Amino acid sequence: MQLSKMLSTQVAKRMILVHPPEPRKELLLSAPSDGIYLGKTRYLSTPVFWDPKKVINPHISIVGITGSGKSYLVKTFLTRASIIWNSNAIILDWVGEYNKWVKQAGGKIINLGKEKLNLLDLVGLKKRDRVKQIVSALDILVDLKNHPHERDDIEEALEDVYEKSKAPTLRDVVKILERRRKKHAARLLKRFTAEGSDFFAGKSTLNIKNLTEGGLVCIDLHELPTEEIRSLAGLTILQYIKEIMRGEGIKDKSGIRLFVVLDEAWKIANDERSDVITIVREGRKYNFALIVATQNPTDMHKTIFSNIGTMFVLRLVLKEFRDYVKNSIGYSEFIDNEISKFGVGDAAVNMIFAERQAKITTFLMNKIDGEEPLFLMHIKGGDMEVEIEKEQLMRMLYEIGLNESQISIVKMEFEKNDGFTDAEQLVAMLEKFGYSKSSIISFLRQLGIDEKNLIKIFSLVKMRKATKGVVNVVLETG
Ligand SMILES: Nc1ncnc2c1ncn2[C@@H]1O[C@H](COP(=O)(O)OP(=O)(O)OP(=O)(O)O)[C@@H](O)[C@H]1O
Ligand SMILES: [Mg+2]
Repeated sequence: MQLSKMLSTQVAKRMILVHPPEPRKELLLSAPSDGIYLGKTRYLSTPVFWDPKKVINPHISIVGITGSGKSYLVKTFLTRASIIWNSNAIILDWVGEYNKWVKQAGGKIINLGKEKLNLLDLVGLKKRDRVKQIVSALDILVDLKNHPHERDDIEEALEDVYEKSKAPTLRDVVKILERRRKKHAARLLKRFTAEGSDFFAGKSTLNIKNLTEGGLVCIDLHELPTEEIRSLAGLTILQYIKEIMRGEGIKDKSGIRLFVVLDEAWKIANDERSDVITIVREGRKYNFALIVATQNPTDMHKTIFSNIGTMFVLRLVLKEFRDYVKNSIGYSEFIDNEISKFGVGDAAVNMIFAERQAKITTFLMNKIDGEEPLFLMHIKGGDMEVEIEKEQLMRMLYEIGLNESQISIVKMEFEKNDGFTDAEQLVAMLEKFGYSKSSIISFLRQLGIDEKNLIKIFSLVKMRKATKGVVNVVLETG
């Protein structure tokens, strides 16, 4: 009895010291100009830097349940990469979840719902090669391989249309097929040319080459009418990116030139024929890196999984998903169990180091040490616009005595309008919270609004009140 008690306390003591191995410090530490800082390891608190020279390739995958912190990690990553290496990034945004952030961070949003992308644009390719690419995209999306006759018909029609017309579109291909009474083949393509989904039929308004050099770019696919059209657009853009990558030649400069981000792009990430795989296979030598984020790891093709240098496993609850990841990268039961209990931002990281002696280890990180980019709030008043960093504005509101719920009302007002609000609106809110005119004026002065514009703002506020009064009167008498 006595003995076993002693033993178990000894064991318990030793357990504290026993923890899964963490990579050697040299592998994780980097000069701030060489690597992206991400946080600290759980047990030895070693700072973790992601240095593309230390990992076997620059590709990254991120898996985790909804809300586990995938997009937050992507944002942190891209923000820091752009500071360190001036990296460009193209985010293929399926659900429109990045556009607000990209706008705030000073990047470009391309709303594909408002653009056109002519699928038949050659973008420097030989006609024959472009035909092959288009057919391969259709193989993935409409399962063309299982319709061999239609596949031949479509391929033939594509080849002919390039001979007949200088700037053909997919509509012309459909016309040819209909003329030739290839009904089935025409029907397969029609879903991409129907009224309202003629995204691929007109003259292209996008210049993908510029976008790959344009800093932070979000290609927002969510306004496209169907999942198939979104996927075809995504695949086409990847095909162009691949050509641009190959055309630029091999680079030995350090850092990453372009990050291609796919968030929940399951349809194009789980097919071997998609150019996601080509970018994974060849990207390293061109300094192109892929970041794939998904809630469901089984959506990611095995080739991607097994060829990726860095994997972040955030919280995963479903045993089936955890098993899939565990079997692919191989880590202990202990880590598996921890993954199921992770809080937001906690991660198990698997890095395959380029150094030969380095053992492949999956180690645990405490919460990713992320950063939101500077969020600028804009206040328009009179003929001026004041720009102020979000946190600073919130601090100022706190200092003049607003409580938490009042501050969040103000925050919501800005967020509703993508970071903009009218000074009159701000005044109205402060008045509602019980602030006197003089304290509001001194607050606006503090924000940098000058006297001339203060007068304009308050006369507008007065006018609004007056019209409201009129409306009320009308309502009451009516
Ligand atoms: N490391 C972190 N530190 C602090 N906050 C975090 C961290 N990671 C995520 N968050 C916060 O948690 C919330 C959810 O994160 P995020 O949007 O990144 O989840 P997600 O995994 O992308 O979810 P979904 O699959 O639904 O898109 C966000 O409000 C984000 O700001
Ligand atoms: Mg997300």
